[in-house]
Amino acid sequence: MKSFSLTILLLIGFALQQVIASPIEEGKKTFTSRCASCHKVDKDFAGPALAGIYDRKSMDWIKKFVHSSQTLIKSGDTAAIAIFEKFKKFPMPDHKDLTDADIENIMAYIKDETGKLQPTSAPQSPATGVATDNPFSFKQNPGLMTSILLALAFLIGVIYFALKVKKYEPVTDEDY
Ligand code: HEC
Repeated sequence: MKSFSLTILLLIGFALQQVIASPIEEGKKTFTSRCASCHKVDKDFAGPALAGIYDRKSMDWIKKFVHSSQTLIKSGDTAAIAIFEKFKKFPMPDHKDLTDADIENIMAYIKDETGKLQPTSAPQSPATGVATDNPFSFKQNPGLMTSILLALAFLIGVIYFALKVKKYEPVTDEDY
């Protein structure tokens, strides 16, 4: 009985983690396996630095470019041609299999990484520091907040099952 409830608890923990797996985490995985060989967030590499890309280009443009940059370039898109020429006409490979959600997750990850860059490049003044440096804000610290939520959910699960197990513990001969 004990090991059975433990298995269920582990399963619940795992399921929760799957549900809560944030876009940032998903984006990080895709970015690391598919983009990091050429792109860094903070500086130019084989391809341009991607920090703030979602502000410079529309999401629609980014999706088209990632799916097939050469198609966009050949269609005469001036922004695509400009960046292609800046990077010495090194064609970025197509990523046609990435879904819109995949690309949005990658952008969520880049946004998160871009946010982490700011403290070193632009030190916060004490006045704004007080207002924005809240470690318990989901926006500022999604990792910590996810862990806290997970820990809470886990605790509730443990208590729930502990109560349940106690209630239904079969009465055996040993109890007499
Ligand atoms: C083989 C190297 C390579 C890989 C892998 C690669 N890129 Fe690129 N990327 C480039 C180059 C080079 C450019 C510059 C434009 C050009 O030459 O076509 C670029 C340009 C871009 C741009 C336009 C940047 C701007 O400032 O307009 C975006 C957005 C982009 N890449 C996203 C991605 C994403 C997302 C991935 C992963 C799914 C990825 N790239 C994978 C080489 C690569």
